[in-house]
Amino acid sequence: MLHTVPREILERMRYLEQLDAQDRQDGSSLLQRLRQIPPETGKFLVLVAASAPPGTYLEIGTSAGYSTLWLALACRELGRRLTTFEVLEEKVRLARETFRSARVEDVVDLVLGDAREYLQNYTDVSFCFLDAEKNQYLECYEALIPNMVSGGLLVADNAISHQDPLKPFLDRALGDKRVDSLIVPIGKGELVCRKI
Ligand SMILES: C[S@@+](CC[C@H](N)C(=O)[O-])C[C@H]1O[C@@H](n2cnc3c(N)ncnc32)[C@H](O)[C@@H]1O
Repeated sequence: MLHTVPREILERMRYLEQLDAQDRQDGSSLLQRLRQIPPETGKFLVLVAASAPPGTYLEIGTSAGYSTLWLALACRELGRRLTTFEVLEEKVRLARETFRSARVEDVVDLVLGDAREYLQNYTDVSFCFLDAEKNQYLECYEALIPNMVSGGLLVADNAISHQDPLKPFLDRALGDKRVDSLIVPIGKGELVCRKI
């Protein structure tokens, strides 16, 4: 997967990495910024997503589709599809352009809307990347975990960078007997939970 990333995916990744770096330099407002994961987290996500059992793959928080491109590598390898949710229209427009130019529309379904309104529809979740607003993590977690298959993997971003605002969520997940979990110190800190 990581040795054979198609040229059109690599090119769009490089473009979004530059856009994200520019955003941070210009001091764009938090809402408008892409707030992407760093590349090392992308590689970590590929490995975790490729280790998940069969089932539904979800991503909560698409932004311009940078993390989705990494996940698409795992989906393509396994012959699976990913559904990714983004609530802001302008980000959805960027993400559509990402998926078109990187030619991953065969493995990615993009939904414009608040993911929390859709989560109860998925009853066989085997992988989820949670990267939305921090005050929504706990609500998403409680909706997802009962609907995850045994061995299903949930990864939540910002577990170290935002450990204070995420404390109620992290305490819940790390003490939850329905999952085995730990925080991996890569990128902004990734909480990984495996459904028992
Ligand atoms: C941190 S950014 C995602 C970055 C992206 N995962 C990446 O690494 O390329 C969070 C995104 O989640 C979106 N978002 C926040 N709450 C959401 C929700 N409830 N449903 C869907 N999208 C949401 C925001 O608009 C924002 O674009």
